[in-house]
Amino acid sequence: MATTTQIPLSQPDITQREIDAVVATLRTPHLSLGPRLPEFEQRIAAYVGTRHAVALSSGTCALHLCVRALEIGAGDEVITTPFSFVASANCALFERATPVFVDIDPVTLNLDVTRIAAAITPRTKAILPVHVFGLPADMAAILRLARAHGLAVIEDACEALGARIDGVCAGGLGDCGTFGFYPNKQMTTGEGGMLVTNRDDIARLALSMRNQGRDDGMGWLSHARLGYNYRLSDINCALGIAQLERIDEMLAARAQVAAWYDEALAVQAPMMVRPAAPPAGMTRSWFVYVVQLPMGYVEAQRNALITQLRGQGIGCNQYFPCIHLQPLYRDELGYGPGMFPVTESVSARSIALPFYNRLPRADVQQVVAALTAWLKQHAPAEQHG
Ligand SMILES: Cc1ncc(COP(=O)(O)O)c(C=O)c1O
Repeated sequence: MATTTQIPLSQPDITQREIDAVVATLRTPHLSLGPRLPEFEQRIAAYVGTRHAVALSSGTCALHLCVRALEIGAGDEVITTPFSFVASANCALFERATPVFVDIDPVTLNLDVTRIAAAITPRTKAILPVHVFGLPADMAAILRLARAHGLAVIEDACEALGARIDGVCAGGLGDCGTFGFYPNKQMTTGEGGMLVTNRDDIARLALSMRNQGRDDGMGWLSHARLGYNYRLSDINCALGIAQLERIDEMLAARAQVAAWYDEALAVQAPMMVRPAAPPAGMTRSWFVYVVQLPMGYVEAQRNALITQLRGQGIGCNQYFPCIHLQPLYRDELGYGPGMFPVTESVSARSIALPFYNRLPRADVQQVVAALTAWLKQHAPAEQHG
């Protein structure tokens, strides 16, 4: 008999306010390209602190349009991390460019900036850092390298709305940045994404390309360039506006749940590797709560733990699997095991625990108790000296 999940891995936080906003839009004739679209864009731009925000139908579309707007194409290389969601590397492949991976820092789990310079070649066009799990990457070092080598910077902030570096929002520091609004994110539009930028040229191209290549003021059946239907409907935008109005409250709720996990794990399972405290000047925006089994445990044990927790009705998952070990990347790009040892080690021992705004403290305690019970019964498979 299948076990029912009693504590889900994630859950959106939808109140009557969001329902009313969506219903109000449904009562208008403007379900797409109506007034909620520019309103949502202006509000995100104001929140992030960029000149422009372009709403799109997903974070993946936002990454794609960043690559296109920067004219990155066949033969070009984009330096990025193998420890991310696959879209952050796929966006280079969409345009026949090559994602060049650089291993991660074992503590922050973001790009190891000390390894980037060695990966730069005459073909490198951009660096694409990901603010993994809502913790900002070392943007100061990345921007310094990019300036020194004449490279663009695309920030994948899909997991990091509200994360800050010296008070400035992550996503707004590079040439362009992206956010994602899938239901597991800090805020949701159902499906959706946003491209943010201070560059007028990138904003203009993104606006055109999301709308079938139409330029501003052009007729519906005129197309200045290759474009897509990457539009976000007014229904989604209405939901996004209502969520953004509650963003501070939602981020605070997530931080509270993370603090409960930190506290319980520190007492009951101190050997578990908890999410790193942010480096000086940085603020994490809590997206997921991912812990690692200590060094010495192997992937099969992590998988057994996931099976055990799921069997107890606790939603959890491996997060992230290595991008370079996905079949596409092994078969088509020649990547393989052993190439990014830090990423592989972290990935093999990582587990995302249930995490969402309204997760009750008692559920956090139940998850930690289940994890602790498993640890008592399972010693590491490998000895580390
Ligand atoms: C780091 C990262 N980049 C890109 C994306 C893609 O966003 P979407 O699912 O909205 O296309 C995600 C979504 O999970 C993500 O976590």
